[in-house]
Formats: sequence, structure tokens, C-alpha cells
Amino acid sequence: MLTWRLFAIRLRLRTFLMRRAIYPGSFDPVTNGHLDIIERGCKLFDEIIVSILVHPEKQPFFTIEERREMLSEVLKQIDRGHCTVRVDSFQGLLVHYALAQQADAIVRGIRAISDYEYELQMALMNRRLEPSIETVFMMPAETYSYVSSRLVKEVFQLGGRLEGLVPQVVEERMKDKTPKR
Ligand code: PNS
Repeated sequence: MLTWRLFAIRLRLRTFLMRRAIYPGSFDPVTNGHLDIIERGCKLFDEIIVSILVHPEKQPFFTIEERREMLSEVLKQIDRGHCTVRVDSFQGLLVHYALAQQADAIVRGIRAISDYEYELQMALMNRRLEPSIETVFMMPAETYSYVSSRLVKEVFQLGGRLEGLVPQVVEERMKDKTPKR
């Protein structure tokens, strides 16, 4: 009986103390830079929800389902420590979604000063909309400071090598989706 009570108290304490973050983005496709940020985020948070924005007006390379599948697969391969990482998707305002998920923070990667202006605007707007949720900026390894999903797609479409920029499974899925040249 006592053991059960202690277990219930520990469980409640863990839930109460648990730090949960949302890592939102388009992830079209996930890059090694994204994975680097998730690994770093795992050192700070107990749980990270990698959340794909459903953007009805955009013409993506990969569908939401394909992006989900690739993320789930590559997340198994990274160093997560004791952190739980799961994949989800969302529509509408990020802060509404973050509140619904009972998240404490939003994680965003900043590669260069050029990212900062846009990210600062978003972080401040999100703070105005929902002051209880903090934005945490993280810097990826220098190796990935120039890697973006947009450039990855451009390089791929023009026949360039993607080695080291995206996980192998992503490159394979990109090739599978493209008619043979
Ligand atoms: O990977 P991306 O495309 O840079 O991610 C941008 C994202 C998904 C973080 C941003 O577009 C977003 O949060 N969209 C949800 C809509 C929203 O909340 N807009 C107000 C933010 S200031």
C-alpha cells in the first residue's frame, strides 16, 4: 500500500517537474541541422514534441505523413539521453498548440544573424500572445550553420550531393519521389 502511494507521489512529482518543449517547423525535409538542435534540446528538456506545421496553402515536397515517417525513423538514431521525443503536427497558432500540449517552451534553431531578425519577431509575437511560454533559441554545430531545408531541396533538384546534410533515408526518399533523370 505504502509502496503504491510512494509510486503515485513520485509519478505526480515527475509530471509536475517535467519540462516539455515544442520544436515546431516545416521539416520539409528534416535536415541534420534539425537533428543537431533536437539532440541539444534533449539536454535541457524531458520531452520534446517535434511538431510539423500543416500549411494548407504551401506546396510541399513531402506530405505531412511522409515527413512524420522520416522524422520518426531518424529520431531513433540520435542521442536523446533520458528525453522523450515524439512527432506530431499542428495547424493554426503555435502558442495555442503549445498550450494545449502543456509545453513550457518553444525551441528554435538560430544559424546566423540573418535568422535572428525573423526569429526574434516570431518569439516576441508569441510572447505577446502567450506570456507563459518561453522561446529558447539554440545554435546548431557550425557544420550545419548553412544547412536549410530550402537549400537542400534546391541542391537536390539541381543534381548536387546531399551527403552530410540530411539523413540517408531522407536522400533516398527524395530520390524515390523524383522521376529518373
Ligand atoms: O521551419 P519553419 O518554416 O521556419 O517554421 C516556422 C513555424 C512553423 C515555426 C512558424 O511558421 C509558425 O509558428 N507557424 C504557426 C502559425 C503561427 O503561430 N504564427 C504566428 C507566429 S508569430
